[in-house]
Amino acid sequence: MYKKGIYRIERNERLTETVWRMTLAGDTQWITAPGQFVNIALTGKYLRRPISVCDWDEGRITLIYKVVGEGTEQMSRLTPGAELDLLTGLGNGFSTKNDARRPLLVGGGVGVPPLYGLARQLLAAGKPVEVVLGFNTAAEIFYEEEFRALGCNVTVATADGSRGIEGFVTTAIAGAGLDFDYFYACGPLPMLHALYNAVEQDGQMSFEERMGCGFGACMGCTCKTKYGNKRICREGPVLQKGEIIW
Ligand SMILES: Cc1cc2nc3c(=O)[nH]c(=O)nc-3n(C[C@H](O)[C@H](O)[C@H](O)COP(=O)(O)OP(=O)(O)OC[C@H]3O[C@@H](n4cnc5c(N)ncnc54)[C@H](O)[C@@H]3O)c2cc1C
Ligand code: FES
Repeated sequence: MYKKGIYRIERNERLTETVWRMTLAGDTQWITAPGQFVNIALTGKYLRRPISVCDWDEGRITLIYKVVGEGTEQMSRLTPGAELDLLTGLGNGFSTKNDARRPLLVGGGVGVPPLYGLARQLLAAGKPVEVVLGFNTAAEIFYEEEFRALGCNVTVATADGSRGIEGFVTTAIAGAGLDFDYFYACGPLPMLHALYNAVEQDGQMSFEERMGCGFGACMGCTCKTKYGNKRICREGPVLQKGEIIW
């Protein structure tokens, strides 16, 4: 169930050279799971821009976004007090209804944000949470300390070795000897594919496909799964490992 609403920007701050965090005040009752996303209407843009919910409470949504084009650049210029038209409650989100006792969360670049709300929920359920964060270089790292402050055990990997383990998230998982029985992941497609091949444990992956409508009407985000076609915006963006076809 999704809903359209008007949200007031409380904060919009830069975390790295290209990544920003925006806090919005408004109705959050339609957000039901970590890993869901909002779809943002922007001036002069026909299509809304989908951004994962990083975290939320009774009256506030936190988003983290990377400036990659005109839409996200427009977002970075918005100041506190400005209002945005959002669809909230979109997508299935991660499901924590499973037997996992030691979950591993794997995020790459702007795939990291939705794992924050998930980590908070898993910790509240009494589970120890391992987190592996992958970035290209040290200057691009964000939320390492925020995950630690929640109580997660955090390992960072950078492709150029400027911080943490040199290599990809899969290098870090193999090298750090992490003990986990289930995983949740979000990141670029090559990262998800490498993780799928490298990890034998079961898990869930969130796919950040290009989207049209964002709420299931245009079929523009349809992908094949072992259980038939699914719309990433509606039956996703989170798929179970066992249903994914590469
Ligand atoms: C379910 C979902 C959740 C997302 N969550 C986040 C998030 O939490 N934080 C975040 O920064 N981004 C997220 N994205 C990606 C975000 O929607 C795009 O980066 C954004 O729409 C780009 O808008 P733009 O107008 O700035 O760029 P555009 O002008 O639309 O595109 C600029 C460049 O970005 C590329 N691009 C655009 N959309 C995507 C995409 N979905 N995946 C990969 N490349 C893309 C284009 O190919 C182009 O090269 C998410 C996408 C989806 C589908
Ligand atoms: S984006 Fe329109 S159906 Fe998914």
